[in-house]
Amino acid sequence: MGQFRHPAPELELEAAAVVRLEMTATARLDVDVLSLFPRMLDGFLAESILGRAIRRGILRVTSRSLREWAPTGHGTVDDRPYGGGAGMILKAEPVCRAVAELRCPTSVAIYLCPDGESFTATMARELANECHLILICGHYEGLDERARELAVDREISIGDYVLTNGVLAAAVLIDAVARHVPGVLGKSQSLEQDSFRHNLLSFPQYTRPRIFAERQVPDILLGGDHKRIDAWRLGQQMERTRLRRADLLGKQDDGQAT
Ligand SMILES: C[S@@+](CC[C@H](N)C(=O)[O-])C[C@H]1O[C@@H](n2cnc3c(N)ncnc32)[C@H](O)[C@@H]1O
Repeated sequence: MGQFRHPAPELELEAAAVVRLEMTATARLDVDVLSLFPRMLDGFLAESILGRAIRRGILRVTSRSLREWAPTGHGTVDDRPYGGGAGMILKAEPVCRAVAELRCPTSVAIYLCPDGESFTATMARELANECHLILICGHYEGLDERARELAVDREISIGDYVLTNGVLAAAVLIDAVARHVPGVLGKSQSLEQDSFRHNLLSFPQYTRPRIFAERQVPDILLGGDHKRIDAWRLGQQMERTRLRRADLLGKQDDGQAT
C-alpha cells in the first residue's frame, strides 16, 4: 500500500477527498492517468464504446501531465540514474505528490511496468469494482524505486515485452476494465461469451453470407435450436482451448459474475 501523503494541511486533504467522493458518486469508475504525454489518450477515449461511456458519465478518465507536479516549477520530472547507465529516470517527488493529491481513501494507485504482476481477465473484472484508479505511466528507463514503494498500491504488466512508455499500457487496462463496468457494454451477454470467461476461449462466429469462398456456415447455427447451438458452441470452446491454450483448462474458475 502506498504510504506517501501530501504534506499539505489536513483540511485541504479532506476537501480533496470530499470533491473526489462527489465526483465518483456520478461516474461508476473514475480514472486518473499520470504520464508525460497526456494527449496520447485523446483519440482512444473519444471513440466507440469508451467514448460513449464517457459521454454518458458512466466512466470518467482524466489524463494529466506529471509535469504539473514538477518540483522545480520548470517541468523537469526526470534525472540521470545513480550508479550510471543509459537513459533517464522519472523522479520520485512528482509522482508521490501527484498521487497524494489525487488520492481518496478508496483509490487504487497502479504503476504500469513490465516487472509487475501479469494483467488478466480476472484482474480486469476485479478492478471494475473499484471506484477510483490512479494509473502511473513511466517513460525512459522507468520510475525511481522510492515512488514505487511509497505511492503505488499495485504494479501491473500488460505482457512480457517492453513498451517505450506506459500510456499504451494504461489504455489497455482502461479498455479491459471498463468493459466490466455496468452500463458500458450494450448487452451484458457479450461478456459471458468472451474468451477467458470460465477459463475458456471463445467459439467461432459467423455472419452473412451463408457461403463465402466456398465455405459454409455450420448447419447447426442455421436451425434455430438454441439448446443444440449452445452445446455446439461449448464444444468448440473446449476444443479451441485444448488446442490453443491448454494451460487454461487446469485453472480454477474464479466463479465471479460479470
Ligand atoms: C522503456 S519502459 C522501462 C522499462 C524498464 N527499464 C524495464 O526494463 O523494466 C518505460 C515505461 O513503459 C511502461 N511499460 C513498458 N513495458 C510495459 C509493460 N509490458 N507493461 C506495462 N507497462 C510497460 C512502464 O510504465 C515503464 O516505466
